[in-house]
Amino acid sequence: MSTPPNPIQATSMRTHLCGQVSPADIGREVTVCGWVGRRREHGEHLAFVDLRDYSGLVQCVVDDSVDARSEYVVRITGTVRSRPEGTVNTSLATGEVEIGDCNVEVLRRADPPPFPIDERADGVDESVRLQYRYLDLRRPRMQKNLRVRSSVNSAVRSAMERQGFVEVETPMLVPSTPEGAREFLVPSRKSPGSFYALPQSPQLFKQLLMVGGVDRYYQIARCLRDEDLRADRQYEFMQLDMEMSFVTQDDVLEAVSEAVLSAAEAVLGERPPSIEKMTWHEAMDRYGIDKPDLRFGMELVELTDIFATTEFKAFAGAGSIKGIRVPNRADEFGRNQLDRLTDRAKSLGAKGLVWLKVTPDGLESPVAKFLSERETKDLVEALGAQPGDLCLIVADQWSTTCEVLGTLRNDLGRPPVHEGPYRYVWVVEFPLFVGVDTTTGRPKPGHHPFTMPHPDDVDRIETDPLSVRSIAYDLVLNGWELGSGSIRIHEPDLQRRVFTALGISQEEAASKFGFFLRPFDYGAPPHGGFAFGLDRLIAILAGEENIREVIAYPKTQSGSDPMTESPLEVDDRILAELGLRVLPSTN
Ligand code: AMO
Ligand code: AMP
Repeated sequence: MSTPPNPIQATSMRTHLCGQVSPADIGREVTVCGWVGRRREHGEHLAFVDLRDYSGLVQCVVDDSVDARSEYVVRITGTVRSRPEGTVNTSLATGEVEIGDCNVEVLRRADPPPFPIDERADGVDESVRLQYRYLDLRRPRMQKNLRVRSSVNSAVRSAMERQGFVEVETPMLVPSTPEGAREFLVPSRKSPGSFYALPQSPQLFKQLLMVGGVDRYYQIARCLRDEDLRADRQYEFMQLDMEMSFVTQDDVLEAVSEAVLSAAEAVLGERPPSIEKMTWHEAMDRYGIDKPDLRFGMELVELTDIFATTEFKAFAGAGSIKGIRVPNRADEFGRNQLDRLTDRAKSLGAKGLVWLKVTPDGLESPVAKFLSERETKDLVEALGAQPGDLCLIVADQWSTTCEVLGTLRNDLGRPPVHEGPYRYVWVVEFPLFVGVDTTTGRPKPGHHPFTMPHPDDVDRIETDPLSVRSIAYDLVLNGWELGSGSIRIHEPDLQRRVFTALGISQEEAASKFGFFLRPFDYGAPPHGGFAFGLDRLIAILAGEENIREVIAYPKTQSGSDPMTESPLEVDDRILAELGLRVLPSTN
């Protein structure tokens, strides 16, 4: 038998992978194993079988009839030869060759699959694909995605190891904490009526590792959150979670960048340039969102000063007036579409939306007559508007103006998340508090209550909390939040001041967070960290729009698993053992 080209992938049962057979093997006898793809019979004594494994397809020619139907598992031995002239298939990696004089051994017959094991399955209903996930996984797309996933995990792991991080596993049965998303609860058999929760993230444990002197921790951590599922959300997902001691923000950003850029390089073959940094305020001001998509223009343009003395009622006295220019698309928007845009703006909280179309003769807009000549001229100039452009303007308080236009900008211009180029950006200096809790009248935490306030703003925690920035940062890729982190508060006075601002008393803090905060009194080092969603990074790098496509066994949009039919009801006996009883459904 010939020497296999890659002894790692050869086994006692085969010499080659299907996709490995190449012109260099011409004249050699090879053995390949896999699943029967397409089969074409030419009369009774000649059959062409496409054999498939994860590496690709190879054409096998059998000088006999074959008893091997679609998806049969077979082992084929034959001699590699050039394909006859005119039959070379340039779209196939093995398309110059075929295996001739084949002997076919059927290893396992197979029922006809419920959908074709190729790109046609993309059109099959999600729940059917997931019901037969093991068949879906046979397809090149899914095989590629699982391998992208594995390279990302491996690149991330070695980047962290290279930088001296230590992998530590944290528990899956943890106390329920009132913060963040809804949790999955696990009943305790030994203490009926008591529950563990599954971790939303290793947050508390990783900070206590810093108290424990670990210094640099990382983990490829499974996290669980009972949230409504979307393209970028599953109940279970993986984070590259990390925490470091005696650091400032830049140390954390550098360590995380190294992991992310190494992962991108492992998949794309090229290391992306270093990641740019933008403050939260700039992101909101220019893109109207804290996860800006930098792949396209249409930035928000500041117009407030132009209308400082305007007579147009909708703009007069507004705190912030901004506009966006939608290049070359005025013709696409008739009255109906413009009304719909206005409704969309109102549903987002705007009082209205001004639209303007630039024509060779001037402006077309229902409000053109209310604007002075100077206002019109300055407006067109500020927006850089050209004939054929559609411009949209909102006047309101700064945050509303930004958010409404930011959403319209994404609605009208944002490409699907997985389309290149890849634009990473660090968003830093998130506000410490966001908005006010209407019941308590207190500000709400932006990240979590242990986030370090910006040193320049600490003095305003009591007097003007909503203006206080924090040392919290996000990593954004193509408009998706990849991850978040912060420098944490490690000294008790500052922690007390933040709790007080949030309306959390010392007693309440002690009872809610005592098991977490008490250890800090034994000497917590200054520390900070980060976690990014591996599923999101992998999906984008694999060219997928939904993280489901890069997870072997995901849940459907409605949170079920059609393959195992879970979630399932359990016996009353099991419930009783756990001290539980199911109440009749109320809906
Ligand atoms: P955060 O809650 O922002 O931070 O989560 C970090 C990242 O995890 C990913 N992620 C998800 N991915 C898929 N499905 C979900 N349901 C889901 N929820 C979150 C996102 C997100 O950016 N402990 C802190 C980090 C820290 O402060 O160190 C945390 O978990 O990509
Ligand atoms: P009105 O004076 O309310 O009839 O509004 C006149 C035009 O201005 C309409 O096209 C409204 O949609 C628009 N408009 C009203 N308020 C605002 C606002 N705050 N920002 C932008 N456009 C507005």
